[in-house]
Amino acid sequence: MAESKLRVLISHNQLQARIQQLAGEIDRDYAGRGPIYLLCVLKGAVLFFSDLARAISHPVRMDFIGISSYGKGKTSSGEVKLTKDLDTSIEGYDILVVEDILDSGLTLNYLVHVLEQRHPKSIRIATLLDKPERRVRPVRVDYVGFQIPDEFVVGYGLDYAEDYRQLRDICVLEPEGSG
Ligand code: PRP
Repeated sequence: MAESKLRVLISHNQLQARIQQLAGEIDRDYAGRGPIYLLCVLKGAVLFFSDLARAISHPVRMDFIGISSYGKGKTSSGEVKLTKDLDTSIEGYDILVVEDILDSGLTLNYLVHVLEQRHPKSIRIATLLDKPERRVRPVRVDYVGFQIPDEFVVGYGLDYAEDYRQLRDICVLEPEGSG
């Protein structure tokens, strides 16, 4: 870790302000409907999920699913695995999948197929970050926090080899001596 440095890309305050806006949109979109089943995609989404859930006024339920497509490096292995399944049935519910970042699209493309087989009433996706340049598989997202350039980001749930998840800001991880 000594050979890397961090540059703030999106500050904690910017994150919180945008999350309030997204929650407002979600409240409007789901008005008059039953509870929203919020699905947290472990582990990267956990901080976004908890802040978004607290900002939404509409009744929510929560469940957690583990999907992994990255090894210990900075790029996807291309292989998507279910590492922890949901604890509950989602049949007949309005599902809102909460992700930290949409990159190649492999993870969400796979996850949507898995969830569709369980017959929810609807599936929507909220992602805090979107790197559209990197897309390999198509994914239809409904709520996007920030579109970001193709840089490796950590913090606010996102890791590099499991480090940096607790940072309050989204930061670019740069090699020491760059810039
Ligand atoms: C990251 C991130 C997304 C996925 C996005 O998860 O949290 O789930 O990669 O990349 P993609 O669009 O290229 O599939 P990761 O596998 O690193 O697991 P983690 O959330 O536990 O860190």
